[in-house]
Amino acid sequence: MRVPDAVYVKNAFARIADRYVLANHVLSCGMDLWWRWLVTRIVRQSNPRNLLDVATGTGDLALDIQDACPDIDITATDFCPEMLAHASARGMRKTQVADALALPYPEASFDVVTVAFGLRNMADYPKALREMARVLRPGGQLIILDFSIPQNVLRAPYRWYLHNILPKIAGWITREKDAYEYLGASIEQFPQGDAMCQLLKENGFHSAEATPFTLGVVTCYVAQTNWIGDILSQDRR
Ligand SMILES: C[S@@+](CC[C@H](N)C(=O)[O-])C[C@H]1O[C@@H](n2cnc3c(N)ncnc32)[C@H](O)[C@@H]1O
Repeated sequence: MRVPDAVYVKNAFARIADRYVLANHVLSCGMDLWWRWLVTRIVRQSNPRNLLDVATGTGDLALDIQDACPDIDITATDFCPEMLAHASARGMRKTQVADALALPYPEASFDVVTVAFGLRNMADYPKALREMARVLRPGGQLIILDFSIPQNVLRAPYRWYLHNILPKIAGWITREKDAYEYLGASIEQFPQGDAMCQLLKENGFHSAEATPFTLGVVTCYVAQTNWIGDILSQDRR
């Protein structure tokens, strides 16, 4: 599996930061708003005290959750200061520049961790998942939202759109066609469905469930960290 290069990713997002929000809405035909709203609903149901949004970018998901759930203490982090500056300017109250592979928080700091369209861009998926599990309290919840390739009748037209049309439109909007050619490649190699659930279970989570949205164009994964009893019994083995 080819993994993304962290320096390339950080520089690419720094270059498109000013146009990222517009490009997102146009390229997804506004569906990104719906996908994030669905995640906000899942968060509201679990009623957390605090939440960490990793790879928050311009803060789209974190801002939606902040608006919908004003009582949750939300921290929004990203390793690209140019993207995070937009999150702050758009009203995100608590932001911190941080690499998801080395989060600056102690064990068991958060009830929920969210990551939308971020994990796919990270250089080491298992390490990133273990780091998110580490900062989650036992029994805490990780919610991942990311692109997937539909496994149905939409598969062929979607892949054609992804590799032929999307980079052209994105190139006009952001003047960075390369970054969106990378997007298609990154989606193709990203584990999805059962493969992602398996990866979660191998890296600190005891249950994981995948739910496709919009015929599988994106998938939402909800996973729980091990309860303290499971962790202690693993230590005794
Ligand atoms: C496609 S954007 C997603 C932004 C936002 N979550 C959203 O839903 O629109 C991906 C973000 O992941 C960030 N990112 C990639 N690798 C990272 C890492 N190792 N640590 C922190 N942020 C990372 C990038 O800087 C970028 O802002």
